[in-house]
Amino acid sequence: MAKVTFLPENKTIDFNLGYTILEAALDNGIDIPSICQMGLCSTCMVKIEKGQEYLFENFGDNSFDNPNNSKSFLSCICELREETDTEIIINIS
Ligand code: FES
Repeated sequence: MAKVTFLPENKTIDFNLGYTILEAALDNGIDIPSICQMGLCSTCMVKIEKGQEYLFENFGDNSFDNPNNSKSFLSCICELREETDTEIIINIS
């Protein structure tokens, strides 16, 4: 199980395989603006400060590609690549 710390609140929560960053945040009272929750509108974009290599955007095909090596992810479709005990830091401001 990974740990995710959300900035600027500096709140850390558990993050499990098969869940999205947005689901984990909302389940723990952390508000990330979102509209479609399907990877279409970009309102849920967050910046990964640490641990981006452990994350991917699941567009429904379990694609692990991150062709631009981007640190910005759509939190509603952002999941762990694999089981890990790493620490991930996400800035939602
Ligand atoms: S809520 Fe629309 S892309 Fe994530």
